[in-house]
Amino acid sequence: MRALVPHGKAATIPLLCLLRSTSDQDLRMARDLGATVCFPAYTAPHIVVQALLDQIASPESDSVAEPVLRGISQATEVLTGLFDGVRDGGTIDLPSVDAGLDPILSAVREGGLTRWLETVWTHDDATYQHCLLVAGVAAQFVLHLGFRAEDREHFVRAALLHDVGKARIPREILNKPGRLDADETAIMRRHPVIGYDILKESGCDVATLGAVRHHHEMLDGSGYPDGLVGAEISDTVRLLTICDIYAALTERRSYKPPMPARDAIAILEGMTGKLEMGLVRHFGDAMIAA
Ligand SMILES: [Fe+2]
Ligand SMILES: [Fe+2]
Repeated sequence: MRALVPHGKAATIPLLCLLRSTSDQDLRMARDLGATVCFPAYTAPHIVVQALLDQIASPESDSVAEPVLRGISQATEVLTGLFDGVRDGGTIDLPSVDAGLDPILSAVREGGLTRWLETVWTHDDATYQHCLLVAGVAAQFVLHLGFRAEDREHFVRAALLHDVGKARIPREILNKPGRLDADETAIMRRHPVIGYDILKESGCDVATLGAVRHHHEMLDGSGYPDGLVGAEISDTVRLLTICDIYAALTERRSYKPPMPARDAIAILEGMTGKLEMGLVRHFGDAMIAA
């Protein structure tokens, strides 16, 4: 690379680097070689092309892309450690989870949710992709609602952890393309309680425990695992459920076309009785504003 980069011209010619690993050290090394923009190696070609176009239009645009890349890289690292650690019966190191929260919020605040989603959509593991999507959408929602810093982090933490129980669901069920059969659905539906148990053993706070256990509950009592109704469902859960459903609808998979944001919001608006409609309206505003 050093031999290829022309001396003295590096500052004027944009140099895009695709990195297999995006740790702080790797990013620093790429910068030392003159990189103007860095992306993970699995970034989709159309995003790389867009980045090239952005460079031609505005050479400073990497200052916007970088917090997103850093946030996703740190959040992926947290998630990987989290899932690997609990898969075989271990517990969660909560301080290391907390270290990933500010990078997510900064990435969404400074880089914008659209950039966050576009980069996350290129992640090859469906469960990590989903957790990163929910965390990014949750960050945008609480930034839009004007939550205090402490509450923002608390909510993004619940979003990042909400599906940790899936670490102990067989991969062939998690990654099955298309619909699950009745037995597979029953196994999949254990993930909120598994996540709750893992977090309880890890010394997690009560509010986050509740959010993880109940993120599939609906106001009309049709959800699971406990069939909670109305006032039994906390505000945190009401917010998280909306983010979770929206992320699941807009996920990008090889076997289905992505659903546009407006269509996903229309589906949420149709879930009267199940979701709190006042919050759905704020959520729609937050996503459209992003
Ligand atoms: Fe879930
Ligand atoms: Fe989820």
